Amino acid sequence: MKKMIKRAAGVAIALALPCLSFGAETKFTFHRDVEPILQARCQNCHRPGEAAPMSLLTYSDARPWAKAMKQAVLSKKMPPWSADVSVGHFKNDRSLRPEEMDTLAKWADSGAAEGNAKDAPAPLQFSEGWAIGKPDTVLEMPVPFEVPAQGVVDYQWILIPGFKEDKWIQAFEVRPGNRAVVHHVAAFLRRAGSKWMAEVLPGVPVAKPSTAPEGGSSDGIVAEYVPGVPPLIMPKGYAMRLPAGSDIMLQVHYTPNGKATQDRSRLGFIFAAAPPEYQVITTGVVTGALKIPPYEPNYRAQASMMFGADVRVLGINPHMHLRGKSAEVRVTYPDGRVQELLRVPKYDFNWQLTYEPDGDLMLPAGTKLEAVEFYDNSANNPANPDPSKEVHWGDQTSDEMMVVYMHLAIPSGQDPRSIYRRVAYQK
Ligand code: HEC
Repeated sequence: MKKMIKRAAGVAIALALPCLSFGAETKFTFHRDVEPILQARCQNCHRPGEAAPMSLLTYSDARPWAKAMKQAVLSKKMPPWSADVSVGHFKNDRSLRPEEMDTLAKWADSGAAEGNAKDAPAPLQFSEGWAIGKPDTVLEMPVPFEVPAQGVVDYQWILIPGFKEDKWIQAFEVRPGNRAVVHHVAAFLRRAGSKWMAEVLPGVPVAKPSTAPEGGSSDGIVAEYVPGVPPLIMPKGYAMRLPAGSDIMLQVHYTPNGKATQDRSRLGFIFAAAPPEYQVITTGVVTGALKIPPYEPNYRAQASMMFGADVRVLGINPHMHLRGKSAEVRVTYPDGRVQELLRVPKYDFNWQLTYEPDGDLMLPAGTKLEAVEFYDNSANNPANPDPSKEVHWGDQTSDEMMVVYMHLAIPSGQDPRSIYRRVAYQK
């Protein structure tokens, strides 16, 4: 009799098992289902020392945020990605696939279980905080900048001497010393012998009024830091040329946050081992003539350029300030065909994203690039500092800008100015 019962119990368990394991499959766990998504889509920002306010590296880090994560991803607030996914394909697209959103939502709804640590993917390796990997060379602001507790700080220009020989930059990263007060850093290139800010001494910050845009006097922008945006790492065979004797002019925008503090930002370089096949240059289509009326909800500004040489597009980066609303970038090929490259329906000033086209986007000489940007100067724009003001071009975020930066590649050895040549002079 005893034996029978045992048997029966055994059968019951055997019958129950398939159901149990079926149940386990639909119950989402952190290690098996959630952690791979966080690694792929979130941890580059959500880890100690990075832009995001909390870490999502471990179960105990992420568990309290389960519901908030669900909300943030379903509302598409996270991960930050503003491009319309129906226009173009971008290799750095970090928007979540519907099934990834679903996983995070179901995990939160089902009690946010940890699951078995054996199911966890290997933790990601991060190198000393540099997103580009270990730099070959690090240059640092020689003296820390004293950031006051309050007020508007003019842009600070800081000269960092470059290198004596030609360098080919494969990857370049600006790392702020103090993320709480560094609004952005732009690294401009100044060629040997340039008269631009010739009086500036290495490391001694020079304040420039916010209404004096200096970009036009430089020999190009090399890299930028804006919160949360990974640096542009160039594909193999592509590099940016830093000519011998060039200096780096850092433009740093500090935004005081109530506490006097210091900042000492750094630059990290990885150099290409050999001269590359393609040179990467950055240019921008720009309109300076902005005159946005008070309370205007939909001001339109447009800029265009015609390429004088074949270019390959590596990155597109629309730039506006707090009244920026939306952006569109399109090209008209020499044969008349029109292609939309990028549409940003809801521009977010906090995320100055560079969109990197997937695959080979070649624009032949004679292609016209057109950018249109819209601005909301109404009271309905929660970011608007003052809807009653007429707004013009300027560096402060309460002024506006209309720029689309283009990261382009041309064959090494070709004169970068060739991209601006009138097409009629070709051939
Ligand atoms: C490019 C950097 C970046 C990436 C990638 C990113 N985050 Fe964030 N996240 C931030 C920053 C910065 C904040 C704080 C500022 C804000 O809320 O915009 C934030 C805030 C949050 C918050 C708090 C939101 C709130 O409403 O207060 C949640 C939750 C969150 N992120 C979840 C995620 C998840 C989940 C992912 C991946 C699927 C992700 N984030 C990817 C940078 C990032």
